Amino acid sequence: ARCFSSTPRQYAADVKSVGVLGAGQMGLGIALVAAQKAQVPVTLVDASEQALSKGIAFAGALELRARELTVIEKLLAKDVSKSRITQEQADQARSLLTTSTKIEDFSSVDFIIEAVPEIPELKFDIFSKLAKVAPPHAILATNTSSISITRIAAATTTDPNDTSASSRVVSTHFMNPVPVQKGVEIISGLQTSKETLDTAVEFCKRMGKVTSVSADSPGFLANRILMPYINEAIICLETGVGDRDSIDAIMKNGTNVPMGPLQLADFIGLDTCLSIMKVLHTETGDSKYRPSVLLGKMVDAGWLGKKSGKGFYDY
Ligand code: CAA
Repeated sequence: ARCFSSTPRQYAADVKSVGVLGAGQMGLGIALVAAQKAQVPVTLVDASEQALSKGIAFAGALELRARELTVIEKLLAKDVSKSRITQEQADQARSLLTTSTKIEDFSSVDFIIEAVPEIPELKFDIFSKLAKVAPPHAILATNTSSISITRIAAATTTDPNDTSASSRVVSTHFMNPVPVQKGVEIISGLQTSKETLDTAVEFCKRMGKVTSVSADSPGFLANRILMPYINEAIICLETGVGDRDSIDAIMKNGTNVPMGPLQLADFIGLDTCLSIMKVLHTETGDSKYRPSVLLGKMVDAGWLGKKSGKGFYDY
């Protein structure tokens, strides 16, 4: 089967089903938006590989279903209560979502978005599996925030000259929280075909998003700009240029962003901020990306921000 018998715009319009891999914060948001905005059936898979890689025993399919659907149902119920959508529309979106623990359930899906944790080996393993189980026309998108798309695409094959799968790999990097933030950056690797890139752009528009296109460069666009800003705020704190509240207040009230950089770091997760700074620093070799010492210490202490209950603020 040929990948693009029609134009990318037509292909994106024709996407009839979506697969989302990873039922964490990002995956749940992506699945919800695909069902609600693109109005296509969505299969949400959370495989045991993910849980195992973190050393956590797999919770079991039934528990998984309960957890996933609670988050999504709550968000839909809120939209109904605010009269943004009708109960019927919420029921319709909900009915489009199914869950599974088997990656093989992507065998007839047109557009797959992977949103598992940022562990390179885990993503490489998943993409080598996706190349085998997904239909030969499917777009294989990753939500990575810092891993090279070229490396992820290379994992789809053992023969670098065979680009039948790697040319369909692209990044659709959504922003957190996915249902709220409109922006998505679309990143192409060296192997990504123009049709794949254009299709990803068009399909993200169908999901109601505003797209930006970035090259496969460390941090892409969003984190290349955002993380040094956050890191600099932490350096200002550790060197006593200003206290926490002064730093956040001047940026929040002075540049009209919804939260200051330290609160935003807590919201994103300090471990995530540190790992992205490390990627920028290591891959560019440029000292301007050196992670703040305080950021490293806070991660060592297990103070990861909102998700751990303590960061620059207490939760
Ligand atoms: N899922 C879905 N909706 C959510 C949500 C979530 N996790 N968190 C908040 N919302 C919704 C709320 O329900 C609320 O919706 P309604 O308007 O329907 O009531 C709306 O967002 C606003 O929430 P709140 O009133 O509770 O609080 P707020 O006004 O302070 O907004 C915020 C919260 C949306 C998180 C806002 O503070 C914000 O936009 N902050 C900046 C977030 C940001 O910069 N994100 C990008 C992070 S970087 C990234 O994602 C890339 C990466 O690779 C690290």
